[in-house]
Amino acid sequence: MKNLKKYAIVGTGSRSTMFRNAILNTYANTCELVALCDVNPLRMQAWQKTVNLDLPTYAPAEFEKMIEQHSVDVVIVTSVDRTHHEYICRAMEAGCDVVSEKPMTVDTEKCSQILETQQRTGKKLTVTFNYRYAPRNSKVKELLQSGIIGNVTSVHFEWMLDTKHGADYFRRWHRDKRNSGGLMVHKSTHHFDLVNWWLSSRPETVMAMGDLRFYGRENAENRGEPRFYTRGTGDALAANDPFALDMNQEADLKSLYYDCESADGYQRDQNVFGDGISIEDDIGVMVRYQNKTVMTYHLVAFAPWEGYRVAFNGTKGRLEIDVTEKSYVSAGEGDHNLSRNVKGGSTHQVVEPTTLLYRPHWGEPQKIELEESNTGGHGGADAILLRDVFGEPQEDSLGRAAGHEDGALSILTGIAANQSMATGLPVKISEMFPQL
Ligand SMILES: NC(=O)c1ccc[n+]([C@@H]2O[C@H](COP(=O)([O-])OP(=O)(O)OC[C@H]3O[C@@H](n4cnc5c(N)ncnc54)[C@H](O)[C@@H]3O)[C@@H](O)[C@H]2O)c1
Repeated sequence: MKNLKKYAIVGTGSRSTMFRNAILNTYANTCELVALCDVNPLRMQAWQKTVNLDLPTYAPAEFEKMIEQHSVDVVIVTSVDRTHHEYICRAMEAGCDVVSEKPMTVDTEKCSQILETQQRTGKKLTVTFNYRYAPRNSKVKELLQSGIIGNVTSVHFEWMLDTKHGADYFRRWHRDKRNSGGLMVHKSTHHFDLVNWWLSSRPETVMAMGDLRFYGRENAENRGEPRFYTRGTGDALAANDPFALDMNQEADLKSLYYDCESADGYQRDQNVFGDGISIEDDIGVMVRYQNKTVMTYHLVAFAPWEGYRVAFNGTKGRLEIDVTEKSYVSAGEGDHNLSRNVKGGSTHQVVEPTTLLYRPHWGEPQKIELEESNTGGHGGADAILLRDVFGEPQEDSLGRAAGHEDGALSILTGIAANQSMATGLPVKISEMFPQL
């Protein structure tokens, strides 16, 4: 019988189910899931129940014991961002390769620790930047790499998170900057990684301005729209708020989070207009890259629609991509077109087609045909990423597989942006993090 590669997962929340399902189904001939680790034993049980698994489970203090007892080859890290460095380093020290969700970590000290441990142990660390694999984003890379618009001198990049998805970062652990590094690290790591990869360059200087302008108690009160509840589940005061998440209405969330609260007190449904939010929701960033390209970037987390727009100015023309991921969010009541009628907003799946436009100097604009995929999450990206993580090595002229250096470079822009927001000054990456 073929030797199966043995995987363990640390952090059995919602994101880890993508890796679990890939191992159990598509890659069952080569991969085996052997053990789980999480702070919450109830969640590990609930997570297994939905797919009829009965794997051994371990507390964080037993992580090394788990690796030893099951001869784990690869650890998949899908825990809270603030803990990634700990498991990445402990796994590599114990002789394992690691697949880590983004962001690789949340600050420069933890990033140093990861790079030092990787260098010393020589183990492989893969950071799963799924957005690189979306066919539309790969097409942009291919066109820029072909030199179609000459040298890229500047990039204008705007990312909208809607009032359903964007709000979710303000309901749970992400809302505390110590856990997630704020949206500049937690979310924009995807976008900054795309730009590093698209431009084949590294960030040099970062300047940012941003604030909490929409979510949070003070903003709601200033608008005359205070919400006097702590959490969305089981509170009558939350009943008519489209931002409130009622986990009793969502069977998956109820079993994975609400029913497991007695073990760790993790509340998945906090009031986004409550106290204790230390992250920003509207941020502008300027980045100068080592190849002299300048990017203006904007992230907003309370937009009426979700998607992104990027324009590349080059010495031979311009490339523009417009992607609508969700057209709008319904408040959830009295709308007959809803796909699901739940609180917290129900997103319509009406999506305008992605457009990729090449505008050459002295010529007509040309629409570039795109191969769009509906299989798997993130515009087909997740399925291709999983093939790279669990399947046979693929020939890839676009260099999409991301290692520890890419992981580090993508968070350094966000960490520098956080520093710049705090001081009001530009940050030179080489001074902030001379190790790379
Ligand atoms: N690439 C993507 O598109 C994408 C999408 C969603 C989430 N993610 C990433 O996946 C990770 C998990 O996100 P999620 O939405 O599943 O979060 P989640 O809150 O659903 O799950 C996190 C899990 O980590 C566990 N945990 C907390 N502290 C721990 C500790 N000290 N040791 C071990 N386990 C601990 C929690 O109990 C929970 O089960 C995050 O890093 C996030 O950035 C990536």
